[in-house]
Amino acid sequence: MDTRVLYIDDDVPLAHLVKRNLGRSSHDVVHVHDPNEAVERLQSETFDVVVLDHYLANMTGLDILRRFRELGIVTPVVYVTGSSEAQIAVEALKSGASDYVIKNASEDFLSLLADAVVNTVANARLRKAKELADEETRRAKERAEALLAEMNHRVANSLALVTSLLRLQAASAQHEETRQVLQETQSRISAIAGMHRSLYSNDKISSVDMKPYISALASDLASTVSGPESRLQISCDLDDIELAADKAVSVGMIVTELATNALKYAYPEGEPGEIRVVFKRVDGMNARLAVEDDGAGLSSSSEAKPGNHKTGLGTRIVRSMADSIGNGITYAPTQRGTVAEVLVLLEG
Ligand SMILES: Nc1ncnc2c1ncn2[C@@H]1O[C@H](COP(=O)(O)OP(=O)(O)O)[C@@H](O)[C@H]1O
Ligand SMILES: [Mg+2]
Repeated sequence: MDTRVLYIDDDVPLAHLVKRNLGRSSHDVVHVHDPNEAVERLQSETFDVVVLDHYLANMTGLDILRRFRELGIVTPVVYVTGSSEAQIAVEALKSGASDYVIKNASEDFLSLLADAVVNTVANARLRKAKELADEETRRAKERAEALLAEMNHRVANSLALVTSLLRLQAASAQHEETRQVLQETQSRISAIAGMHRSLYSNDKISSVDMKPYISALASDLASTVSGPESRLQISCDLDDIELAADKAVSVGMIVTELATNALKYAYPEGEPGEIRVVFKRVDGMNARLAVEDDGAGLSSSSEAKPGNHKTGLGTRIVRSMADSIGNGITYAPTQRGTVAEVLVLLEG
């Protein structure tokens, strides 16, 4: 492939020399002496490199470099200066030239110029190739992220379908106990669906913003478990905390179990009551997850008591999740009601 060179100099005899010399190494040299023509040709044709002389009829090469910049011309420039003009060379490099060559009468100049032209073109091609590769990497990453978001979207939608099937089944169940079991299963699956939904609705791909996730869970639970006529309220006190997907879903399951229990057992049927879901940092490493109520409290014979091995499914789920994300579940001693808490180890 021929390298196209635009040679800007008003020294015509030298231009012939340069043309002949570079022409030997498959360079196609176009010589212009008028800077305006040079600009026009750069805007309408493709050149691999510009060779620009410092001294021109009524301006300097530095003026032309400035115009290139103003016009967005990015063709690499090899700057040619008279001998012993280091300051000009420095200025040219600062103004965007890629290299410079000192002009003198000897053969030296021609071979130095040829080297500079070859190197500058090679560098520009490398840079271009790197830009293309970077762009390709960026595109591939975007595609992968879009696919992942799409996948989480589909998982969330499929799980939502499963929960609505369970809801239908619960509604047509003959026995209250069956209805309850299906209802609780539905809540558990909703907690998992919510995690996937939150993965595609933020731009973080693999982590979950816990504040919106938990508050959506809580309002779901309040409406599905207790019905609209219920006088039970779930309030949330949540810090902005981000967790990896697997930890987030464990927290979601724990909240679901504990809040479901509080809705079911804390207050006598039809009575008003408050349930509080708390997820707040205690220090840089840990956050306290708690579900609190002011209700009946765990009776001394209660299955949920720590250390009691004869437990309900809910307690077993909570225990294994709480062990995996922190120090396990503890029930704080209180005058009234139940305070279940887990110290969650935060990452990073
Ligand atoms: N917030 C609470 N207030 C009163 N009792 C509770 C509370 N949470 C749990 N319990 C008691 O602990 C028991 C075990 O709960 P759990 O393991 O979730 O099983 P299940 O909900 O299927 O009964 C419940 O049956 C209930 O007696
Ligand atoms: Mg339960």
